[in-house]
Amino acid sequence: MDATTITLTGAGGQIGYALLFRIAAGDMLGPDRPVRLRLLEIPAGIRAAEGAALELQDCAFPLLAGIEISDDPVEAFDGCEVALLVGARPRKAGMERADLLAANAGIFGPQGAALNEVAADGVRIVVVGNPANTNALIAAAAAPDIPSERFTALTRLDHNRAVGQLATALEVNPRDIDGVIVWGNHSATQFPDVSHATVAGRPITDVLAERLGGAEAALAWLDDEFVPRVARRGAEIIAVRGSSSIASAANATVDHVRSDILGGFRTSAGVLSHGEYGVPEGLVCSFPVTSDGSGYQIVADLGIDERARRLIDASVAELVAERDAVRELDIVP
Ligand code: NAD
Ligand code: LMR
Repeated sequence: MDATTITLTGAGGQIGYALLFRIAAGDMLGPDRPVRLRLLEIPAGIRAAEGAALELQDCAFPLLAGIEISDDPVEAFDGCEVALLVGARPRKAGMERADLLAANAGIFGPQGAALNEVAADGVRIVVVGNPANTNALIAAAAAPDIPSERFTALTRLDHNRAVGQLATALEVNPRDIDGVIVWGNHSATQFPDVSHATVAGRPITDVLAERLGGAEAALAWLDDEFVPRVARRGAEIIAVRGSSSIASAANATVDHVRSDILGGFRTSAGVLSHGEYGVPEGLVCSFPVTSDGSGYQIVADLGIDERARRLIDASVAELVAERDAVRELDIVP
């Protein structure tokens, strides 16, 4: 089988370091598909990327067909089939949301333009660097020849966090849980929704009601514990570890690309809205998705109750505000 070319930006950073070894081991594209890695860094990060490349060589991974390192997006994305856009500008003290969006536009705009120029036909892109949804929008706007549906944002970490919390609370294996949805933005406004989820085939809301003593108690647990815990898990990790999520973010990136390219069960991903579920067209929003291997499709026709509507709308309002901020700066049309 020909090697698949994967470009990773921010390869000298923390998530990059956790991700590279998983990809080269075959976790992302499967045990039979060789991978060629292209590492993109800014000059200050090149040495760290070179160090990671030395260690990759020391692993003697049979699937690793080559590693190239560059600080030039056009070189790094040349022929790229899977782009993992991890490198981003972190928020600094005193930085407003518009400042962060503008700083990241300086990264994701040029990277989108480079992808447009030199990536392989059929390239799939996932944006991990925050604010992931709006960075994906910015990159897509700079790549008019690549269908915007190919630009996705990582909310699989939020999805996995939700499944992990439910599995712990219900004392079941995560594989028994199905149908969780993360709606909205990869931020504290997101809505992890269990209204269509099942555990071992039974509605989770029924199982929670049984365990907690009624439907009202189940709803209180969801509103007061589950939703805020999942939505603020990033901040919890930072508070406990002293650094943001690394291995779990890398793991979610592996899961996201594998589900997109190899297909699989229903999950959540930030994808382009065409107006589904009342989300304004053109936003990159987290939805329930499936893929048959040809790219994520939004799962249609799920019922949305009044509570879900309110929580989805609140997160979508934040996405609209981010999009309007980058529109005001003339970064996206
Ligand atoms: P990090 O600071 O350790 O690494 C980022 C790397 O990106 C650095 O090495 C830096 O030199 C590089 N970089 C900066 N600008 C670049 C550019 N223009 N081109 C190429 N590389 C560039 O950060 P990290 O911990 O690896 O996190 C990376 C991003 O992922 C952050 O924005 C973080 O907030 C985000 N994140 C997202 C999720 C998610 O679920 N979507 C989860 C965790 C972290
Ligand atoms: C996360 O969800 O862990 C990351 O997006 C980091 C953060 O700032 O929350």
